[in-house]
Amino acid sequence: MSVIPPYLLPDNAAIAADGRLSIGGCDVLELAAEYGTPLFIYDEHHLRARCREAVAAFGDGVAYATKAFLCTAMAQLAHEEGMQLDVATGGELHVALHAGVPGDRLVMHGNNKSEAELRMALEASVGRIVVDSFDEFDRIEALVAAGLPAPTVLIRVNPGVDAHTHEYLQTGVPDSKFGFGVGDGAADRAVDRAHESHAMHLAGIHAHIGSQVFVVDSFVKAVGALAPLVTRIRADEFSIGGGLGVPYVEGESAPTITEWADAVKRACAGAGIQSRILAEPGRAIVARAAITAYRVGTIKPIDGVRTYVSVDGGMSDNPRPVLYGSGYEAFLPRSVGAERPNRVRIVGKHCESGDVIVQDARVPADLTVGDVLATPVTGAYGHTMGSNYNMVLRPPVVFARTGSARLVVRRETFSDLVARDVAEME
Ligand code: LLP
Repeated sequence: MSVIPPYLLPDNAAIAADGRLSIGGCDVLELAAEYGTPLFIYDEHHLRARCREAVAAFGDGVAYATKAFLCTAMAQLAHEEGMQLDVATGGELHVALHAGVPGDRLVMHGNNKSEAELRMALEASVGRIVVDSFDEFDRIEALVAAGLPAPTVLIRVNPGVDAHTHEYLQTGVPDSKFGFGVGDGAADRAVDRAHESHAMHLAGIHAHIGSQVFVVDSFVKAVGALAPLVTRIRADEFSIGGGLGVPYVEGESAPTITEWADAVKRACAGAGIQSRILAEPGRAIVARAAITAYRVGTIKPIDGVRTYVSVDGGMSDNPRPVLYGSGYEAFLPRSVGAERPNRVRIVGKHCESGDVIVQDARVPADLTVGDVLATPVTGAYGHTMGSNYNMVLRPPVVFARTGSARLVVRRETFSDLVARDVAEME
């Protein structure tokens, strides 16, 4: 019978006297009417506040992991608020540069950067390249020999620690495609190679243990595992990567960015690490900043089984439940404080049974067809992992602040769906 907990809503969410939700001073039902559904609604000041918190906590050099949510406006916002940007592909690099972010504010990631991507990164004089394989060393050396500027690099090291999170979201265990292992000596060989190479300047060590990690202890373990290497080479910089978790459903809690930074810095100091400590949060910056507004199209009670509530989006705007079994809450923006006594399964409009948004959602008793229904904490890895499955149009994104909303990504159109098709037309 609980109501939606406020700690799952954006900072600037407010409930009007009639029970309706506003975000950034904008009425959610009005936004849904104006821009249509599904719709991603971000609280712009929430995004800015989290960026500023990250910069205050870690200092200059902290990067926003753009894979969590990226569009031109988001790249500009993170840059304006003093964050660097972590990009992991040529595509992410392109969007960041398109947004006007200077190359030296970018950190280039990726376990399989192509020669073309490395060329782009070097031509843009990115601030750091995080080297992930010996093949990548070969490619950078060849490009520099061909006349491109020598980059400053970090070596991605796999600390071999087990973070408490979903198997697909772990990256720091020994059996991983990411980084050079400390256990098998690869990290030492990578550091030697970077030191000897004339094609790069080694700034330090990078590690990322996984994502949606709630337990600060997992980061502390990684620091412990890497301290011998980081101190031995007197690394100027040590990045702990991203990965700080956020609560998605009632009852979950996670450390703040500030608490995370304090714990990491304390662990580093305790382990004798004197390097500049860097980090690259994604989810913790953007996840709770947004809700997704859907419209309910059908309600199908199956006697003795359950009720299916279908909305006008689904796995194409939020694949996380299907991919990771992730949980979400649901509520009605028209009556945010309503008790939610009924249990239903909220599903999308895609042609498969796995297309679930909330397995076992609590909803108000008067939920009806035509209602706008919202899921909170959808600001990370929803829009960026969206698809066109079933040729469903990708939703627009609005940023709301102090009573006005701006469209930062428009809804996809049917013409967009055939824009890349090459075919003879009669
Ligand atoms: N740095 C590196 C090198 C990463 O690989 C990642 C995430 C981050 C930073 C940012 O991690 P965050 O702070 O956002 O946890 N699609 C999954 C998450 C995959 C994360 C991949 N790498 C999800 O929806 O939960």
